[in-house]
Order: sequence, then C-alpha cells, then structure tokens
Amino acid sequence: MTKIGVFDSGIGGLSVLNEALRQFPGHEYIYLADSANAPYGERPDEWITNRSLKLCTWLIEKQHCEAIVVACNTATAQAIAIIREHFSNTPIIGVEPGIKPAAAISPKKKIGVLATQSTLSSEKFKHLLDSLVGDCQFISQAGVGLVPLIERGDLNDPELEKLITDYVQKVLDFGADTLVLGCTHYPFLIPIINKNFGDQLHLIDTSSAIIQQLGRKAQIEPRKGATEVKLFSTGDSNLILKQTNQLIQALNPTIQINASSIII
Ligand code: DGL
Repeated sequence: MTKIGVFDSGIGGLSVLNEALRQFPGHEYIYLADSANAPYGERPDEWITNRSLKLCTWLIEKQHCEAIVVACNTATAQAIAIIREHFSNTPIIGVEPGIKPAAAISPKKKIGVLATQSTLSSEKFKHLLDSLVGDCQFISQAGVGLVPLIERGDLNDPELEKLITDYVQKVLDFGADTLVLGCTHYPFLIPIINKNFGDQLHLIDTSSAIIQQLGRKAQIEPRKGATEVKLFSTGDSNLILKQTNQLIQALNPTIQINASSIII
C-alpha cells in the first residue's frame, strides 16, 4: 500500500483524486485542501510558491506521503520546480492545461483555454504554448470569480452559471471548437457547460492522463483491499466531506473517508 498526498487550493483537486481512486484503488490517500486561502489564481507568484512548498512539506514530512500529486494548475505553474528541488527523492506529479491533447483533436485548430490568471500569465504556460508545433490558434480566458463560487459548494448558483456561460461564449465567439479546462475546479462545471452549449465544444480535462503518470512515476498498481481517504482542510471540513461523499462515495461506497480541519 502506498501513501499518496494530493493537494489543491481547495476542492478542485477532488476531480483528480476521484480519478486516482478509480485507477488505483487499495492505497491510502491524504487530500489537503487549502480552502481558507482559496482562490490562489489571483495571488502573487511568490505567495503561491511559498504556500505550495509549505503544504507539500507537511504532506511529506508530517504525513509521510511517498508520492505527491499537485492537483492544482496554478500551484504547478508557480511551484513545481522548487518542490521537486526540495524533495528530489519523492515522485511529484503536477497538472497543466491540456493544450497538446486539445491540439490533437480540434477539427478547426481553434482552442480556448480557461484557467486562472496566474496560470495563464506564468512562464510555464508560455513555454507550453511555445512548445506546440503546428498551426493552432488559442484564446486564453481567465476564469476570474469561478473558484470562490465553486468552493461554496452550490453548483446550481445562478451567479456561477452566468459567469461560466459568459466565459464559454467568448471562447465560442472566437470560433473555438475545443475548450481546455485548465483548472482542477472547472470539471465540476461540465454539467453546466453541457446544459448551455450542448456538444458545441470538445472539453479537455487531463485528470486521467495525470493519474496514469502517477502510476508510472510512483510505480503503483491497483490493489485489492481497503482504500482509505483522509481529507484535511484549512477551511470547513464538513463542506469538503459533503463534496467528497457526493463525488466519491457515489463511485465506490466501500471507500473509507474521514475529514478534519487543520491549521498549517
Ligand atoms: N484548482 C486550482 C487550479 O487548478 C486553483 C484555483 C484557484 O485557487 O484559483 O488552478
């Protein structure tokens, strides 16, 4: 059994954890949500770097995690290099907007990237765009205001629906046929996007590829036996427990989940 740490600014990384539980049951997962400090996406780069390193240090040194998934595009963009430098013996898996898979499937080669302001203006994202050969055109759309509304846990909030539909409409007005969900909070919005826009856009979420990468780097296999999930939140642990139960126990009711609040 391997102990795997997963962290995000809040509940967004649950979309990644969910995929990990699907591909690699039988392990122990420690999920850390920094909900007291979300959103990260409009904070200064240095703050995000220091905070991400601190959370990762807690997962490795206090919780003894043997592999880490940085389930946050913003934290990956700003901090993965320094985290890897500090913990060179621990597999550290990051997430990044899936522009390569988007380029591979976009019929018109016109792609929208919805991500936080911090991710879109990072050097890492610029390099990612530069590394793409071919003739794709991109429109970058910052999802300002989405994360705090998703963190509240009410996905039926009309304010949230208005905001996401405005952003998606801008991407469609550009002529895009493919939309990259470049923040781990955004897969929660897929039902709203589908409801409002039907099949006008291919949606790209890279959770599955990230977890395949976890399997390779941490050399883990699916195991028989109990899967344990321990949730820690710097915010309201009841809220994260509720979200996780909706998302994860629907998938497999035998998974043992508990949640605690924590100050880091
Ligand atoms: N879920 C995060 C991401 O993937 C962070 C969003 C935020 O806190 O602004 O970028």
